[in-house]
Amino acid sequence: MTTKGLWTDGRLRYGGDWNPEQWPQAVWREDVALMRAAGVDLVTVGVFAWSRLEPAPGRYSLDWLDRVLDLLHDAGIRAALATPTASPPPWFSLAHPDALPVTADGVRLHHGSRDTYCAAAPAYRTAARSIAEVLAARYAHHPALALWHVHNEYGTTCHCAHVETAFRRWLTDRYGDLDALNDAWVTSFWGQHYTDWAQVAPPRATQYLGNPGQLLDFRRFWSDTLLSAYTAQRDLLRAANPAVPVTTNYALGDWVPVDHARWAREVDLVAVDHYPSRTDRGAEEQTALTADLARGWARHGAGRPVPWLLMESAPNQIHAGGRMHTKEPGRMIRHSLAHVARGSGGVLFFQWRAPAGGAERFHSAVVSHAGADTRVFREATRLGAMLGRLAGTACGAVQAGVAIAHDAASGWALRHPGMPRDGLDHPGEVAAAHRALWHAGITADLVTPGDPLDGHRLLLLPALYLASDATVDWVRRHVHAGGHLLVTWLSGVADEHARVRPGGYPGAYRDLLGVRVEEFHPLADDERVPLTSGGIGRIWSETVHLTGAEPVTAYIGGVLDGRPAVTRHRVGDAHTWYVSTRPDDDTYRRLLTDVAHRAGVGPTCPEAPPGVEAVRRRAGDHTRLYLFNHTDRPQRVPADGHELLTDEPVAEVLTLAPGGVAVLRERVPPQGVATAARERSAAMRTASPASTVPIT
Ligand code: GLA
Repeated sequence: MTTKGLWTDGRLRYGGDWNPEQWPQAVWREDVALMRAAGVDLVTVGVFAWSRLEPAPGRYSLDWLDRVLDLLHDAGIRAALATPTASPPPWFSLAHPDALPVTADGVRLHHGSRDTYCAAAPAYRTAARSIAEVLAARYAHHPALALWHVHNEYGTTCHCAHVETAFRRWLTDRYGDLDALNDAWVTSFWGQHYTDWAQVAPPRATQYLGNPGQLLDFRRFWSDTLLSAYTAQRDLLRAANPAVPVTTNYALGDWVPVDHARWAREVDLVAVDHYPSRTDRGAEEQTALTADLARGWARHGAGRPVPWLLMESAPNQIHAGGRMHTKEPGRMIRHSLAHVARGSGGVLFFQWRAPAGGAERFHSAVVSHAGADTRVFREATRLGAMLGRLAGTACGAVQAGVAIAHDAASGWALRHPGMPRDGLDHPGEVAAAHRALWHAGITADLVTPGDPLDGHRLLLLPALYLASDATVDWVRRHVHAGGHLLVTWLSGVADEHARVRPGGYPGAYRDLLGVRVEEFHPLADDERVPLTSGGIGRIWSETVHLTGAEPVTAYIGGVLDGRPAVTRHRVGDAHTWYVSTRPDDDTYRRLLTDVAHRAGVGPTCPEAPPGVEAVRRRAGDHTRLYLFNHTDRPQRVPADGHELLTDEPVAEVLTLAPGGVAVLRERVPPQGVATAARERSAAMRTASPASTVPIT
């Protein structure tokens, strides 16, 4: 499947969700005129329009959508046409109460919101297929159609009788017989041994702690079930016109029961929705992380790279701490272009026009309740012009010498009850490592275990709890090929069924790291343990024995006084590091800067002042340097080339306005990231003070 149709003109796509069904036609015409003024060329339509498209079972009302698509086409705007299956009409829920979702404690939910369906219910699957078929038959060759946007943010979970049947089927396929399931779930514990498949059920509310193997498999099963709901629609849409790409937008967050890496193999482009949850610099850190995640998923989608696209973002607000926070002028542009710098094929907003009512009536919109004579609309128009100026230039691979491993199942497993500490958070630890590198100016790729590691001099495993034999082999191959490795606490402690690997932690990587962990000492939320490197450790600490590694940093005080906190081990040409606590942000930044430096990886733009983010893309001999000034002062960066947003030459120094962005076509492209970093590292080796304090 090609996604060329979306990007044949080399332009970045720009637009957002548009809901004309909420407005009279006079507003449609005004909207389209405003879209043209803002430079919009792609809008998502029909996401929640099922009850308007099929007002009664089998009775379709499509004329209005015909008019919408024709209007867009006449204006030169293309459509990401959604299948509306995230919001079944009330008539459907009333006719099929068995297709309403049931919570783990047995409560059946009712219509009145959205996403109120069970993806395993046959009636829902049939109805979803039917409406998708009707849309495919009518619009698959409509000239405005650029992309099929299946559903919206798959994520609803269910524990009903249909789910029970489907779960058993999935488990039978996975394990073949009950003995294998009993073994994987360690049902010998608490006498849970199953003697008949009919006894196996989804993890519903129970008296005390549930079975970790069952909980984990249920998450995997549900991700696969939602995926099959997506692929059922994708296949029929593709059959109607194979030239039109198909995708579904990813929701991100702990609650999402979806393994995005696995799903990436089934989409023609990875589409992510991103809403930062922090209002401070954390919003920029989260933006970079999300974009790097999306790029990582896209890199190995469908067994080959597929494009990725920021499908939803909020134009002018961040919702955090129970209130809406207005994005400061320029911030939306920085966030949008930060996604583009890291590989997004464009910028889409949720939403185009603010609704007059409904649950999200005060959600951020390009055309707000105040209309278009607004700061947000003017800023959106400015962004549209900027994206236009970047046409044909936003190509090339993002240069990153460090890979951070990320794994949905490890995140799910660490959330299980009965862990040594509450609040264990694999995505949070991935974010902490990414944040430390981001502040060090070092660009990272996010990888899923098993992904090719080419050009990555350093691999990080942050609390990557689960390790199948295949994952262990993948890590081993990286190290034996001379790649450096940094592993943090709780990585490799369990196998893919969440069964502990015996013999001392971290079972999967003890020999690679030259350590053996005897005992955990989880810390309370407000507890801190001082480290000899000068910082503190949080969340976690451990009794680490050296079985070949050397100590780098030690704990100070308490039962672990003088014992290793961070260690380093030599394996062939590589160093492997073990970090047994979560250092504070500054200490973590210094540690990872040092580890990356020893691996031959340095900052993307070593001369960039603090608060300036730099991302480099390279295609052959051409490079683009994206620079973001996240401070409220002008910042100067040594640079030579041509600035594309202002179309001005730059000689020696580029001055970034407060909160400003620049995209530089560099005059003399620097060498590849690893080579340059290696050379820099050789030059710095004697001059640079070690940022970790070795203890002897
Ligand atoms: C998601 C949904 C949208 C909207 C936004 C609100 O991304 O896809 O429909 O609800 O969240 O932030």
